[in-house]
Amino acid sequence: MITKKMAKSLNEQLNHEFYSAYLYLSMSAYCSKMDFNGAASWFLLQYHEEQQHATRFYNYLVEQDATISLQSIDKPEKKFGSLLETFQKSLAHEQMMTRKLNELGDKALKEKDHATYNLLQWFVNEQVEEEATVSEIISKIKLVQNDGYGLLMIDNELGKRTSATSGAMN
Ligand code: FEO
Repeated sequence: MITKKMAKSLNEQLNHEFYSAYLYLSMSAYCSKMDFNGAASWFLLQYHEEQQHATRFYNYLVEQDATISLQSIDKPEKKFGSLLETFQKSLAHEQMMTRKLNELGDKALKEKDHATYNLLQWFVNEQVEEEATVSEIISKIKLVQNDGYGLLMIDNELGKRTSATSGAMN
């Protein structure tokens, strides 16, 4: 059984994960509008991945017999700028999520709640991978600058992603 305070924090994080899903769904729609269908597909898988993250928190709260308290999900932006800016916004979002997860880890340690700390370590490791993947995509987009052919090649590569658990381009 976890403390009420920790359950409240994990419920909040569950909501942040759903917001992440919503944000990536909006980014997917935006990329479709720009005819970057590979990027749209990549963000759609990211949307599914974030739902899995939310479900992981949900399952943990259920296992711990904690109260589930679902909150409203904030409305995401609709427009994100260029393809580069869209991925830069995705990276900034993931960096913010990493900070939140680290803060949660600090709280778990303070409460000597090792079960929750273990759960959070999985997320912290996941964040390292997510940030690295998005950073790599940003580097590649920067490399081609605004060259249309280069952007189409990157979009094509992004479209090859098939799994909601690995966003790597290769
Ligand atoms: Fe679940 Fe991308 O943070």
